[in-house]
Amino acid sequence: MIKVAVCGAFGKMGQEVCHAVEASQDMELAAKIDIAGDVYKTIDEAYKNTPFDVVIDFTQPKAIYENAKYCLNNKIKIVIGTTGLKDDEIKTLKELSEQNKTGCLIAPNFSTGAVLMMMFSQMAAKYFDNAEIIELHHNQKKDAPSGTAIKTALMMSEAKATFKKGNCPETETIEGARGGTSYSDIQIHSVRMPGYIASQEVIFGSSGQIFKIRHDSMDRKCYMDGVLLAVRHVAAENDFIYGLENIL
Ligand SMILES: NC(=O)c1ccc[n+]([C@@H]2O[C@H](COP(=O)([O-])OP(=O)(O)OC[C@H]3O[C@@H](n4cnc5c(N)ncnc54)[C@H](O)[C@@H]3O)[C@@H](O)[C@H]2O)c1
Repeated sequence: MIKVAVCGAFGKMGQEVCHAVEASQDMELAAKIDIAGDVYKTIDEAYKNTPFDVVIDFTQPKAIYENAKYCLNNKIKIVIGTTGLKDDEIKTLKELSEQNKTGCLIAPNFSTGAVLMMMFSQMAAKYFDNAEIIELHHNQKKDAPSGTAIKTALMMSEAKATFKKGNCPETETIEGARGGTSYSDIQIHSVRMPGYIASQEVIFGSSGQIFKIRHDSMDRKCYMDGVLLAVRHVAAENDFIYGLENIL
């Protein structure tokens, strides 16, 4: 049995992850960690009282970097679902994972459909000069743009170095109207709205045609198969992985 701790256990994702771990045949929910509620408050406190094999983190952008550094410095394997990590922070976590030979998997999105959306967007990228990303989330999401949008742009940038922004000099009458510029000059637009869970549309265009790739999460259960797959991988290996597509 893989002993699992869930950090952020009382959150929207954390609660779903606790149920999924409890329902699985090969995992045991060893500890719940959350700054809210009557459970362990920190990973350190939980690990000292109830050692576990893997911690799954679904907390918040301002907590995840310190949580992950603590784990890797103490050789505690970690699966990271929390988004908001910056490029230089991911680079440091990779170095710590390798130095300490401790498994670490970061996935901005654990749903198979969203991972396929990213992979298909990477495939499409080399055939189009124009591409923009619109991501739409519930209005309690703390970071923008989403980790999924950033990872999608990163994967598309591996297929094409630069995308065209428009086809003429542009003026923004309202600042931000054209979104934020990411890898390979891909524009990302973030929408926050009650009613959404997580959606993303990648729009490609060329003369006379528009090609759209869209994914909608209708229920947080869609992430659970990916989370459990990641836990099994991290429990067995000590490598650093950024993106679920690398273990599918
Ligand atoms: N990778 C994915 O597939 C995926 C999918 C959905 C959401 N997310 C990300 O997961 C994160 C959590 O999302 P959510 O909707 O569950 O948020 P949420 O606000 O509902 O839950 C976060 C929980 O973490 C707890 N928490 C905050 N800081 C903490 C800390 N330092 N230590 C322990 N607990 C702490 C909070 O008390 C809360 O219970 C966000 O970053 C979100 O973007 C990722």
